[in-house]
Amino acid sequence: MKILVTGGAGYIGSVVTEHLLDGAHEVVAVDNLSTGHRGAIDARVSFREIDLLDEPSLAAILGGVDAVCHFAAFSQVAESVADPLKYYRNNVGGAVALLDAMRKRGVKYFLFSSSAAVYGEPDETPIGEEAPLRPLNAYGNTKLAIERILADCSVSWGLRSLSLRYFNAAGAGARHGEDHRPETHLIPLALDVALGRRDELVVYGDDYPTHDGTCVRDYIHVKDLATAHMLGLEKLIGGYSGVLNLGNGRGFSVLDVIRAAEKVTGLAVARRIGDRRAGDPAVLVASSEKAERVLGWKRFYPSIDEIIRDAFIWKKAHPEGYPE
Ligand code: UFG
Repeated sequence: MKILVTGGAGYIGSVVTEHLLDGAHEVVAVDNLSTGHRGAIDARVSFREIDLLDEPSLAAILGGVDAVCHFAAFSQVAESVADPLKYYRNNVGGAVALLDAMRKRGVKYFLFSSSAAVYGEPDETPIGEEAPLRPLNAYGNTKLAIERILADCSVSWGLRSLSLRYFNAAGAGARHGEDHRPETHLIPLALDVALGRRDELVVYGDDYPTHDGTCVRDYIHVKDLATAHMLGLEKLIGGYSGVLNLGNGRGFSVLDVIRAAEKVTGLAVARRIGDRRAGDPAVLVASSEKAERVLGWKRFYPSIDEIIRDAFIWKKAHPEGYPE
């Protein structure tokens, strides 16, 4: 199949692209390189530096495309609270322009990179897809808005879409890893401290109602996410539309992750307990039972040690991230 990947120079987009190429798909990738990296683009990809708001350019490259995997988005929660319009313009506006171009070119299959952020603070865990949708920030609101736009497009012009709600993506692929600037995510920050690239990790609060007082999250290996995308694409082309959680089904606290990072690296992770970070729910753990059932998805890398080990291998090989 010929697949258009938006955000192909980003973290999850580049790892999924790697899997699509290895699965003998033809990939056309677009990215405006505002947060993605040219160095993350595989030589086998036909790459275009295009902004999603540039609908005519998108329409021009959609010829012959069978399906779209849409990753391109801003994804920093705190930034989305400070500058919501930046998020609505890029995330929602970009998705609307992309969908309009698809409608005009008759492309009907859309795999969407959604987020656990659509749930906000859950009433209970593990979180199923039927849980209340109450995003706590503009980032989560943009993801939910797009899911609703997809449902409307399905009624109006027969779009088939699959929204994959990721929990905490982590780890690295064989050739691609995490390089956010600035980095805000726990595992790469802990590894930077272990490697002496940062002085300490600030643990955002230890007074949550969890086993050790620090927040619990569901870390899912990015390679397992990629497998789910491959299966999801097949399902989508087979006519399935829907929403699926993608998580590991197990929660780890911030201190659990730090201890695992120390074990895997053999290095100390200096940390200090700081204030809570605004908008952090105490516990976010997915039920991925529906994805397992619908897609026949199995996780090959469920261990937190293995997730951290792959992130560490990538970080040691790319201490400064991608060259550009
Ligand atoms: N944390 C720290 N110190 C840090 C960084 C993070 O204590 O320096 C804690 C956070 O408070 C949180 C946990 O580590 O409890 C994980 O934080 P991340 O920033 O790595 O990830 P989040 O859970 O905040 O966010 C992730 C994605 C978002 C998505 C969200 C959905 O990055 O895009 O999951 O749940 F919206």
